[in-house]
This record gives sequence, structure tokens and C-alpha cells, in this order.
Amino acid sequence: MTAPLAIETQLAQAGCRRDPRTGALSAPIYQTASFAHPALGQSTGFDYSRTSNPTRLALEETLAAAEAGHRGFAFASGLAAIDTVLRLLEAGSRVVVTEDLYGGTFRLFEKAARSFGIEALYVDTSDTEAVRRALKEPGVRALFIESPTNPLLKIANLPVLIALARGVGAVTIVDNTFLTPCRQRPLDLGADLVVYSATKYLSGHNDVVAGAVVARTSEWSERIAFLQNAVGAVLGPQDSWLALRGLKTLPLRLKQQEENAGRIAEWLSRHPRVKSVYYPGLPGHPGHDTLKSQASGFGAMIAFEVEDAARVPAILEGVRVFLFAESLGGVESLITYPRVQTHADMASAVLDRLGIGPGLLRLSVGIENVADLIRDLENVL
Ligand SMILES: Cc1ncc(COP(=O)(O)O)c(C=O)c1O
Repeated sequence: MTAPLAIETQLAQAGCRRDPRTGALSAPIYQTASFAHPALGQSTGFDYSRTSNPTRLALEETLAAAEAGHRGFAFASGLAAIDTVLRLLEAGSRVVVTEDLYGGTFRLFEKAARSFGIEALYVDTSDTEAVRRALKEPGVRALFIESPTNPLLKIANLPVLIALARGVGAVTIVDNTFLTPCRQRPLDLGADLVVYSATKYLSGHNDVVAGAVVARTSEWSERIAFLQNAVGAVLGPQDSWLALRGLKTLPLRLKQQEENAGRIAEWLSRHPRVKSVYYPGLPGHPGHDTLKSQASGFGAMIAFEVEDAARVPAILEGVRVFLFAESLGGVESLITYPRVQTHADMASAVLDRLGIGPGLLRLSVGIENVADLIRDLENVL
């Protein structure tokens, strides 16, 4: 048997060899809603693009291989992917959920899923004992983990939590948006489903909104495939192609982003105007050792708290290299104000309790020259 290809090789050649008739290197964009049938009762394998489309399939197969999963599924956004996964659950189900997760996922649980009878029990998933207790609550059918969390970069002990969930018969879903399969592979650690905002690192250029699910087993794949078609929040062919093109350079981008992030986090941690820095690559970060044991890198997201929250507007307006914008994972460095932007749907009391305070800023570090990035922060701080 030949050895499986490394992820860099798989991704660099994503979408290649899919058009034997012409030999096109780049996966063709099949901009079609429907496919003609050769005869009654026959199909080319494609019937209608909500069910399957060759360009989307190229992306989905790339994602499944990168994650070593059974099948991948591409959706119109990360939230569409998560929404589809939540439809696996019956009304009356409870889900143990990371408490400081992306604000949009919180909004989905509170303002959309709740009306279908799904109740979220929020827990600090970096606290294994708290998760163990929550999983014993009646009606718990799933564990939804975001790790590292957005925005505080807390780390969950994935193998332990996944085993605990399995012990009570709950499905484990991991949002792996921040680390990607290049750094962390939750399915290898036993998770049932991994979800992504593919808008972020996977696509990597802030030019497409997309989501993904990868399932570990054929049973989960069958159920997600049914829901993907039944609900229909699929990714279109043009956007599938953009995501596929982005994936080709993911390993290189992430390497540079991570290197820059490590330098910036260290620099911030020595800055007198900075009260605290949250970056799991710093040895003092409480999740540093756990992440080291279950991932092959620390990612490129940093949160930090400035001494004087009153200076936040001047910082956001003063940056010249960082862009003040709400997203992450692209080649361009962004600065975000979680309390007002990404987490605006959480009540102030909850934000205060979680530590998402008025002085907290989040950086998504890009691939620019790190000296330019540090000089930009120096100027505004
Ligand atoms: C960790 C995480 N999960 C999910 C989402 C939602 O993804 P999308 O914006 O593609 O719907 C985001 C978006 O910021 C995110 O940061």
C-alpha cells in the first residue's frame, strides 16, 4: 500500500484530475442547476445542484480527505452548516455548549434553535469537571465544543470531553474554525462531526462566505447528506470554487500567520498599556499544554485587553495596517471589538462574567510583514 498523501500535497492539488476529457488542472465551475438524464431511471450521478454539484463535490471531497473523515459537506455559511447539524436533534434535546463561543452561534442557539425545542446548557468547556456534570443533566443529546474559543482562546481537552460525551450517548460536534485540519483533527480524536466557518482560514482571502461539516462515519454522513438536501442551505458552484482555490494555500498561509501571531503575542505581553494577552502559544496560557498535546500549532488568533478601555475607539480608528473589520482567518490582518461586534447578542452581564470586557480586542493575524503589524500596534497603543 502506498502511504497516504500529506495534507500539504492533498490541498495543493485540490480539485485537480477531475476533468479527464480536457485535463483541466483547475476544477471546472459547473454553473448549472440541473443535469440531463441519459434515460429513464438513469443518472450521470448528478441530478439537481441542491443534492450534489461537481464543483461543490470537489470541495467536499477535499475537506473529507483533509479531515480524514467519511464525507464532507459544503454549506452557504458556517451558521448554515451548524443549523443543519442541529437538525439532527429531536425537539426536547439539550446540548452542552461552550459558553464563550462565537456570538452568532450563541444567537443561533438562543434565537433560532430554541423555538424548535433545542436547549443549550452553556459551560466553560476548558473545565472538564464542569462538562462532566453538565453531560449528566437529563435530556442531553449533544456536546458542542468550540476550541479554541472565540474570542478568549480557551482550550478544551478534546479527547477527554469526547470520551465523556460518548459515555452518555451524546454526539460530539467540534467547531474547528480557528485551527483547521492543518493543526487539529477532532475526528481523529473521536468527535462525530466537525463544523467550520469556511469563510475563515479554509477559504482564507475574505472573499467568500461558506461553511462545512465533515462526518466521521458513514452513518453520520448519511444523515447529514439527507439534511443538506432536505434543508438546502448549500454552497453555490462559484463559491465552492473560491473555497477550493483558497484551500490550496492553507498550509502556507497558516504557517506565516502563526509565526506572525507568535511574535505579536509575545510583543503585546511585554507592552505596558496591555493588561492581558490571550494566545494559547504563550507558555503561561492555561490551555497551552493541552493544546500542545492535541494540536500541531497554536493558530493565529489573539485577544488582548488594554489597560484603559476608553482608548479602544482611538485604537480602532488609528490602525493603518490592521483593518477594523468583523471576520478572521484571511491573509489580511483584522482587528475586532468583540463586545460590540461579534458578541453583541450576548447580554452585558454575560459578557462581563465571561471576561469579554470593554477593553478586549481581538486580532486575526494575516500574512503581512510582522514588523509592519507590530509598528501599527505600537502607534495606536
Ligand atoms: C468559530 C466560528 N464558528 C462559526 C462562525 C459562523 O460562520 P459564518 O460567518 O461563515 O456563518 C464563525 C464566524 O465568525 C466563527 O468565528
